[in-house]
Amino acid sequence: MTDSRLDPVEVHLPDDHAARALATDAREGLTATPKTLPPKWFYDARGSDLFERITRLPEYYPTRAEREILAARADEIAAVTGAQTLVELGSGSSEKTRLLLDALRSAGTLTHIVALDVSATALRDAAAALAAEYGGVQVSGVVGDFTEHLGLLPGQPTRLVAFLGGTIGNFLPTERADFLTAVRAVLKPGEWLLLGTDLVKEEHTLVRAYDDAEGVTAEFNRNVLHVLNRELGADFDPADFDHIARWDPDHEWIEMRLRAKRALQATITDLDLKVEFTKGEDIRTEISAKFRQEKVATELAAAGFTLEHWWTDEANRFALTLARAD
Ligand code: SAH
Ligand code: AVI
Repeated sequence: MTDSRLDPVEVHLPDDHAARALATDAREGLTATPKTLPPKWFYDARGSDLFERITRLPEYYPTRAEREILAARADEIAAVTGAQTLVELGSGSSEKTRLLLDALRSAGTLTHIVALDVSATALRDAAAALAAEYGGVQVSGVVGDFTEHLGLLPGQPTRLVAFLGGTIGNFLPTERADFLTAVRAVLKPGEWLLLGTDLVKEEHTLVRAYDDAEGVTAEFNRNVLHVLNRELGADFDPADFDHIARWDPDHEWIEMRLRAKRALQATITDLDLKVEFTKGEDIRTEISAKFRQEKVATELAAAGFTLEHWWTDEANRFALTLARAD
C-alpha cells in the first residue's frame, strides 16, 4: 500500500501529455525562423540534476543571492503573510524553500505545502523529503505545467505562492504578463506572491553565470537535444552544437542558444520531419530576463498585485518581492 505521506505526488497530466506537448513545441519551434525551443524541455531527470549542479557553480550567483535574502527575511515574510499554505511553482529540489517553511512553521501558521513542477523526478524526490521533514504538515506534489495547471492546485487560504530562482525571467514578456495574471486569478484578495528576480548588472558577471568554466551550463543547454532524441526519435548529435550565452542589452536578457558547428540535417522520426541547419545557425533555447524594481512593480500592478516589500542581497544582485493580491 502506498503511504500518502511519503508519496504525496499527484500527476495531473495524461501519460502522453509531455510527449504530445513536446511534439507540438518541437515542430513549431524547429520549423520557425529563427529556430526556438521552450526551456521547460531541459528538465528531464538529467536536466534537473544538471540544474542542481549549476546552482553550486562559483559563477552562478542567483541561487546563493536568493538564499541570502530568504535567510534574512523569512521570519518577516511569515509574520506579514501569516500563510497557512505555501504553494511553490517550479519547485525543483525546494532546497531554499525550507528557510521559508521553517519560518512559517515556527510562526505556527503552516498546515499545507504544495509543490508544482514539470519534472516528475525532481518533484517526487522533493515531495518525499518534505513529507519526511515536516511531520504534521500536509504535502501535495503536483506534476504539471505552471502555464496550464494553476487551477488544479489544492490548499486553503491564506496562501503564499512562491516563484523563486528567477524562473519568471525564462518567460517572454507576453508570457510573463499572462502568467502573472493567471496566478492572480487563482488567489483571493489579500493572499500573497513571493517572486524571485535576478537583477540587471554588468555584462561580464551575467555572461559568466551562463557560460561557466566547467561547461555544466553547456551540457544543460545541450540536454534538450538528448530529450528530443529520446522522446521523439530524433538523431541530433549534441556535440555538433556549440553552447552560446549572450547578453541582449536592448531586452535586458541573457539568451542561450545552440549553434550548429557545420551544415547538417537532423531527422525527427516521430514527427516525420527533417530539419536543416546551415553552419552557424542557432536554436534559441532560453531567455533569462534580468529586472529593475520599477519594471517588477509595474508588471505586478498590471496583473492585480501591489508590491509590499522589495528586498535584495547585500551585493544587490538579486531581489525578492512580496506582493499582495488586490
Ligand atoms: N525553484 C528552484 C528551481 C528553479 S529551476 C530554484 O529556485 O532553484 C526551474 C524549475 O522550474 C525546474 O525545476 C523546472 O522543472 C521547472 N519548470 C520549468 N518550466 C516549467 C513549467 N512550464 N511548468 C512547471 N515547472 C516548470
Ligand atoms: C531556472 N532559471 C531561472 C535558470 C536561469 O538562470 O535562467 C535556468 C538556467 N539556465 C542556465 N542556467 C540556469
